[in-house]
Amino acid sequence: MKIRVLGSGAGGGIPQWNCHGEVSRAVRSGALGTSPRTQSSLAVSADGEHWFLLNASPDLGEQIRKNSVLHPRGEALRHSPIQGVVLTNGDVDHVAGLLVLRESHPLVLYGTERVLGFLGENSIFNVLSPHYVQRQALSLGQSFPLRDARGDMSGVMVEAFAVSGKVALWQEDESKGDNFGSEEGDTIALKLWREGAEQDAWYYIPACAAMTPDLARRLTGASLVFFDGTLWRDDEMIIAGVGTKTGRRMGHMSQTGEHGTLRAFADLGVKRKILIHINTTNPIIIEGSEENRKVRDAGWEIAYDGMEIG
Ligand code: MLT
Ligand code: MN
Repeated sequence: MKIRVLGSGAGGGIPQWNCHGEVSRAVRSGALGTSPRTQSSLAVSADGEHWFLLNASPDLGEQIRKNSVLHPRGEALRHSPIQGVVLTNGDVDHVAGLLVLRESHPLVLYGTERVLGFLGENSIFNVLSPHYVQRQALSLGQSFPLRDARGDMSGVMVEAFAVSGKVALWQEDESKGDNFGSEEGDTIALKLWREGAEQDAWYYIPACAAMTPDLARRLTGASLVFFDGTLWRDDEMIIAGVGTKTGRRMGHMSQTGEHGTLRAFADLGVKRKILIHINTTNPIIIEGSEENRKVRDAGWEIAYDGMEIG
């Protein structure tokens, strides 16, 4: 399977437009060991010709321009190698790019009933003409082939399953208590493999609030996991003076702390671990920083835009 990191930053990207914190400043000034990051999304393909997007970030136009595998090919005057999109939640950083795929192009849009429901209530998403774009609800816990708009199998197999998380920020309902009305299906993980090679399955989990026993069991021994890299520490945005929310409040595990990502993965035997969806405050993106060294010493890689696997 071919995997291309289109974007590795969290919502807002790095540097986020209005963030004047230390990490954002370093990246904005082009400091040694830093690079900007667009908002998180992967492109995957079994054959290198037909590609599916895992999430559609607001930076998708720029991401397509920078990745020639996603450019139109052949003689037709309208063409795209992009066959469809799989959504892992309904947050702006993962759905706003759908508006970039506007108008009359055949695509399949996969998401949970919850997330497709939110999009369905919002008529702006009808720029993806319903005559051309099929919306396909994902059944959690069942494997299925990604198909193009003609119904042809792409060779990429997927199983979606719920992980601990939160409803999209723009759908939060404070009257519904501590979890803002979150339900199963608001945040999912994707297990992906090439048809016939489930033993090499890998995972894409750009948002996850907690390592549960079920998730630990699923990930044990996996060949590759892309995992929620939003924050280094839970109170990072508060300490940096740029925000009031903790990671927990946003539905994200942080790298450090008793229930943090480094500790949670320490004994899972995952062969390749890559942090993605990294926030504009997270010091791990500064090569050579103490935090960067600590995640690398714990066996993690840090995703960057344009990273290729397979
Ligand atoms: C998140 O991952 O917490 C969201 O992307 C927040 C947002 O939509 O800004
Ligand atoms: Mn996000």
